[in-house]
Amino acid sequence: MQNVVLFGPPGAGKGTQSALIIEKFHLIHLSTGDLLRSEIAAQSPLGIQAKSLMDAGILVPDAVVIGMIASRLEAHPEAQGFIFDGFPRTIAQAEALDELLAGYHSKISRMISLVVPEQELKQRLMLRGKALGRSDDNEETILKRIHEYQEKTLPVAGYYKASDKYFEISGVGTVEEIFGRISQLLETPTI
Ligand code: AP5
Ligand code: MG
Repeated sequence: MQNVVLFGPPGAGKGTQSALIIEKFHLIHLSTGDLLRSEIAAQSPLGIQAKSLMDAGILVPDAVVIGMIASRLEAHPEAQGFIFDGFPRTIAQAEALDELLAGYHSKISRMISLVVPEQELKQRLMLRGKALGRSDDNEETILKRIHEYQEKTLPVAGYYKASDKYFEISGVGTVEEIFGRISQLLETPTI
């Protein structure tokens, strides 16, 4: 079973690359951002609670996203592996994920971190805001999301470095070039 954490700041290309990875490697895509946006669209109590935080670019509480991931893992007993996109974003989430996977006699194989300069992140997200109108793709919220990433999420890289699971690649270039770099890593067996 290959369980991959795709890591990187807002706009790094996690969602874009996940779409290609699931097709080639037959993994199930779990994006907490996408799951939360579905809850908002369904106007569920969870969605209503999350919306104001997401619109402000602030992380939603750990318990909320951990609960969502737990139920998605349970829903896919047939999975050959998962790609986690936008999760874990705090050390508490990383610890909870390890515990959840241990319950299935499984674990994280690798974290792949996409490195993109801040100026490019802002440009990509402003462009997407204009094209798709995602409510958190405006200048103020983009800055807040990058700040949250630096404060709360970057330490998660250290968590995976400590167990030699951390791999960094450049997230700059064409989508195909970046996918080539990811594929090369995923085709290398883990120890
Ligand atoms: P989430 O939905 O995860 O958003 P994010 O991390 O801010 O990241 P994005 O989805 O904006 O970027 P991405 O890396 O997926 O890039 P993409 O492929 O789209 O989270 C949203 C909110 O939900 C959070 O702020 C928080 O409130 C909450 N949340 C979610 N998970 C949480 C958690 N675990 N804990 C707590 N709260 C949580 O690409 C971006 C753009 O760039 C696209 O337009 C794309 O077409 C373009 N692009 C992609 N690749 C390239 C390339 N190579 N060259 C040029 N353009 C490119
Ligand atoms: Mg995304």
